[in-house]
Amino acid sequence: MKIHHIGYFVNDIEKAREDFKKIGYVEKSRCIFDEIRKIFIQFMRFGETGGGTIIEMISPGEGCKLFSEKFRAQGSRPYHICYECENLEEKIRELQSENFLLIREPQPAPAIGNRRVAFMYGENVGQIELLELKTGGKEF
Ligand code: NI
Repeated sequence: MKIHHIGYFVNDIEKAREDFKKIGYVEKSRCIFDEIRKIFIQFMRFGETGGGTIIEMISPGEGCKLFSEKFRAQGSRPYHICYECENLEEKIRELQSENFLLIREPQPAPAIGNRRVAFMYGENVGQIELLELKTGGKEF
């Protein structure tokens, strides 16, 4: 697997975007609203040229049930690392046999060109995101 992005929870995506720019990030994608999860998502890349680390800013919109009040109160911070894998189902089975729990079934992620993602949890690793390897020629 290879690391695709670091997921950042942010309470205010507009303000976070401006602050990330101050430390050297550029916008990699437009800010989109995921209607299913009711979250705003935007990808940023570190550095002006390609190849820099990608972060995913996620902020809750109206009606979002993904993050508890307690979670939100802790403010902006990284909360998951996303790993790209060749075969999502195979990787899930492999990690399940290593005692990782599947906490969110594979589903298309509109912010990443509808590539499928799943979330798993390892007792000593915490939450991880698995992203199916891209099949087309799209950037994501
Ligand atoms: Ni992510």
